[in-house]
Amino acid sequence: MNVPRQTRTADREDTAHRLLASSAKASFDPLVEIDWDAPVEKDRYAIRPERISLYGTELWDRLTEEQRTELSRQEVASIASIGIWFETILMQMLVRHAYDRDPTTDHVKYAYTEIADECRHSIMFAKMIEKLGAPFYALDRLAHLQGKLFKAVSNGPLTFSGALFVEEILDQLQREAMVDESLEPLVRAVSRIHVVEEARHMRYAREELARDWRTRGPLVRAYSRLALGIVVYYSATRLINPRVYAKVGLDPRRARKAARRNPHHIDTKTWAARKVVATMDRAGMIAGPGRFLWRAAGLLGR
Ligand SMILES: [Fe+2]
Ligand SMILES: [Fe+2]
Repeated sequence: MNVPRQTRTADREDTAHRLLASSAKASFDPLVEIDWDAPVEKDRYAIRPERISLYGTELWDRLTEEQRTELSRQEVASIASIGIWFETILMQMLVRHAYDRDPTTDHVKYAYTEIADECRHSIMFAKMIEKLGAPFYALDRLAHLQGKLFKAVSNGPLTFSGALFVEEILDQLQREAMVDESLEPLVRAVSRIHVVEEARHMRYAREELARDWRTRGPLVRAYSRLALGIVVYYSATRLINPRVYAKVGLDPRRARKAARRNPHHIDTKTWAARKVVATMDRAGMIAGPGRFLWRAAGLLGR
């Protein structure tokens, strides 16, 4: 189904115009908005306990309350590390996207706006990781290399489907955290800023993706489905770095194994991915060998 070029451009510019207006009204500088001097409240959870990867397992039962809240901070830091990893990939992909296009159009202006947002987000996540008393949980070499390759060669559908996937997963967790008053205030403040700005990114990615996908032939679609499956697999299986477990005195290998088999953890991932899975499944993007990777990553249920 091909939409006439003019209609498409008008719609695209119309959306971008609105996104730019909304960015002008509600954008945040986390360096100014967040009180970085306030101490982290260590008796509170940084994420809801039932979202922690070991929740409900035998290992979890043996942890003290102190170890559990510590683990919550480390897991948030691990997820934020993946956030920085992917935002850095995305910034490069958007720069490449803009390079080929006319910067006086609103949709390219919006691409630049999004790059600026992601730049601030990555600094915000890095500062939060430090405040939480965690290291930057760098990815293993294979995932790091795969990211390097992906950001250098990805095409339109991959740029926007990859972006949408990571953004939706983070969004679901952060939406829940920002309204839960029992959780740690710094994590909630960071979540709130990210949710507001990412709502626009997701709208942009969803529309760019739909527009682009319609114009692609079977070969590019097949390749994109597989490459997306690989990105999805790497980001979803590495959300929780096994090094977080050592921080609470657990054996990382044993704890990682327990988390992988933990039905609560699989349910959390399936829940966080449910919206993006529905969108992409409808568009026919989760099919072929790529679908196997989605399932193996625990995103299509148990
Ligand atoms: Fe972001
Ligand atoms: Fe984003």
